[in-house]
Amino acid sequence: MKYRIPLILAASLAFIGAEASAGPTEDLASTCNACHGLNGVSVGPTMPSIGGLPEAYLKNLMLQWKSGERYSATMGRHFKGYSDEELAKLATHYAKLPWVPVVQKADAKVIAQGKDASDRCETCHGATGSEPDDEETPKLNGQWADYMHLEMLKYRTEAVKMPHKKMRNNSKKLDEADVAAVAKFYGAQAK
Ligand code: HEC
Ligand code: HEC
Repeated sequence: MKYRIPLILAASLAFIGAEASAGPTEDLASTCNACHGLNGVSVGPTMPSIGGLPEAYLKNLMLQWKSGERYSATMGRHFKGYSDEELAKLATHYAKLPWVPVVQKADAKVIAQGKDASDRCETCHGATGSEPDDEETPKLNGQWADYMHLEMLKYRTEAVKMPHKKMRNNSKKLDEADVAAVAKFYGAQAK
């Protein structure tokens, strides 16, 4: 008996220890999954997928929300409670997951209209949105179209704080009628 109790205790302590060291980032991420879906693959339509986006992009956004530099309906408030280190860990966690495009059907004419309008987007996002040219640029193929439409409306509206000037200018250059179409074009791309 003298030896058994400490052994059992030691075993359960080791178990708790293992959980604590493997758990923190997953624990942090579990609150995100409630909205962004399991492994960051969202069930849409205005909630974006975040698994597999570039690390630097994810980190940028979270820090900008935390500092109030970037407008957000929900996320800004959310991130004030996290340390910069925790945000970096979350960015690493989500960036390591695979990007899973959710291919959304749309009218063929609308997709063709969106494809035409996406000419000026190609240099940075790639022809179908799957090949961002740097670590600060998100993937767009199979991202939720309704979400992308809303984001572009934010970039186009001067009063909404969106720090990325180039993306703002490019969004503004779109004809109003093309904004939804270009979002549908990217939403329909598998790769
Ligand atoms: C209550 C629901 C909710 C929770 C919880 C939540 N988010 Fe979000 N998230 C949203 C919504 C809605 C948007 C899109 C619009 C916006 O900016 O508010 C968004 C946008 C994002 C984006 C931008 C994605 C893109 O494609 O640019 C990132 C990154 C993100 N969230 C990360 C997280 C992380 C990490 C967590 C957990 C710490 C989290 N979110 C928790 C609702 C949520
Ligand atoms: C000069 C490079 C560049 C060009 C050209 C460009 N983008 Fe972007 N785009 C970016 C970057 C960088 C971001 C992230 C900006 C940020 O941090 O707010 C972005 C963000 C986006 C987002 C938000 C995605 C998300 O997950 O939140 C959408 C949608 C988008 N771009 C669509 C377009 C469309 C449509 C065009 C063409 C009309 C375009 N972009 C042209 C660089 C570019």
